[in-house]
This record gives sequence, C-alpha cells and structure tokens, in this order.
Amino acid sequence: MSDDIVVRQMLVEDLDFVVEIENSNTATGWTKRQFQHVLDCSKVLIIDQQIIGFIVISTTLDQSELQNIAIHKNYQHLGYGEILLRYGINGLAQAVRQLFLEVRVTNFTAIRLYQKIGFTQVSVRRDYYPAVLGREDAIVMSLQTP
Ligand SMILES: CC(C)(COP(=O)(O)OP(=O)(O)OC[C@H]1O[C@@H](n2cnc3c(N)ncnc32)[C@H](O)[C@@H]1OP(=O)(O)O)[C@@H](O)C(=O)NCCC(=O)NCCS
Repeated sequence: MSDDIVVRQMLVEDLDFVVEIENSNTATGWTKRQFQHVLDCSKVLIIDQQIIGFIVISTTLDQSELQNIAIHKNYQHLGYGEILLRYGINGLAQAVRQLFLEVRVTNFTAIRLYQKIGFTQVSVRRDYYPAVLGREDAIVMSLQTP
C-alpha cells in the first residue's frame, strides 16, 4: 500500500477518471451525468497522485446512505476500499445516527467489507437489481454511527 494517500472532494474534472473506475467494475454502472448530480456528496481517493477510487454518501437529516463506492479493479484487495469507507464514515455530520446501504446478494467482497466495519443486515429487497439472467435481490444493511 502506498504512503501517498489523499481523500478529497470530487470535482468536475475528475469525472472521466471516476467513470473509468466505475466501468472497470461493472458494465451497468453510473454514467458521468449521474456522478455530476452527486458531486457535492462525493469524494475521490488518490494514491501517488492518481485517482483510484470514489465514494458517494448522501445525507438527509439524521440518516445517510452509501450510494456508491468503488476502487479501480487494478487496485482492489489492497486495503483501499476499507480506508475510503472509514474516511466516509468519520466525515459524516454529527447529527447522523445511521448509515444505510444496498448491496447485491452476490457481492461477497463488498458484504465482507461492510460486515468487517460493523454493518448489519436490515432486510432484503427482492429483485432489486437487474442481473445477467433476470433480477437479483439486494441486502439492505445499516451501521449505527456514534
Ligand atoms: C467493494 C470494494 C469497494 C472493496 O474495496 P477493496 O479495496 O477491494 O477492499 P479492501 O482491500 O479494503 O478489503 C477490505 C475488506 O473487504 C473484504 N474483501 C476484500 N477483498 C476480498 C475478497 N477477494 N474476498 C472476500 N472479501 C474481500 C475483506 O473483508 C477485506 O478485509 P480483510 O482483508 O481484512 O479480510 C471493491 O472491491 C470494489 O470496488 N468493488 C466493485 C464495486 C462494488 O462492488 N462496490 C460496492 C457496491 S455496494
């Protein structure tokens, strides 16, 4: 893992890199326009002056939602996803009591990361996501924030 790690607000000029990261992970990810709408609540992770990840957390009153998080395919499983998620959680407004997220039932890597950080399952949303064959369930998870 690099020592040169920076997390900062996502800017318009980051969007091409951000979409490239999204596309490195999924063919059905967010578009540039979708990221543009959530710039205010989005951050990028930079190592050695290169953007390799992003996180999007929106907040309404005392509840936040992890809308998206990804690390570039070439930099996964090196600890960066955990660093970025912990950074996002630490940066939540003081009023926030709970952080929610939805994750595909088959996304075992992400589920393990969330469990490691302390998220627990709240419910299941049947057929929530489009899948290669039909639809796929989402697990709804939440984390109580101090
Ligand atoms: C999910 C994601 C953000 C995790 O980022 P990462 O940098 O790869 O994860 P880290 O290296 O920080 O690993 C943190 C924890 O995740 C879990 N994890 C990571 N890689 C894993 C693997 N190959 N298998 C199982 N669990 C894994 C482990 O719990 C790990 O902790 P540990 O190493 O102490 O066991 C990243 O894999 C990603 O971008 N995936 C594609 C996009 C995505 O699915 N986003 C989530 C949408 S809900």
